[in-house]
Amino acid sequence: MRLAPLMLATSFLLPACQPNDPLPTEADIDATRGRVLFAENCAQCHDPDGTGAIGPDLTGLSAAAGGTFPENYVMATIDGLDRHGDPEAVMPEFGARDLGDTVIVEHDGLGTPVPADLLALTAFLRSIQG
Ligand code: HEC
Repeated sequence: MRLAPLMLATSFLLPACQPNDPLPTEADIDATRGRVLFAENCAQCHDPDGTGAIGPDLTGLSAAAGGTFPENYVMATIDGLDRHGDPEAVMPEFGARDLGDTVIVEHDGLGTPVPADLLALTAFLRSIQG
């Protein structure tokens, strides 16, 4: 009987998403939600407007990167990819928490899954660049 393993494999590959619960798209992500998330998770160190209380000023990220918003760097910093195992790191690794539903983002023709809250925070930071 050769059908059984095939059916098992097929059901394993089926995505576990509900038809009535569509994934958010990149268009659903905005800086307004990012501002709320920032106030809740980041403002104690970076101030609500990102200018920095005990953390660095986040309104000059683009300027520091030569005029282009350093999106990948920002996402990696929030996620914590930059600092795994660094005992000196002050900023928490937000990637270790639930950063919301995954959104598929087109990047160089490839769909990359990114957590929605990470995108919203990044959109907010992009919006406050001086
Ligand atoms: C406990 C304090 C703290 C919290 C909370 C915090 N940060 Fe930070 N953040 C820092 C510090 C301090 C740095 C400087 C690098 C380091 O020491 O880790 C930093 C660096 C950064 C950088 C890089 C800045 C640069 O100039 O390179 C970004 C971007 C950033 N934080 C975004 C965020 C976001 C978004 C949140 C909320 C999701 C957040 N931070 C929460 C303290 C914090």
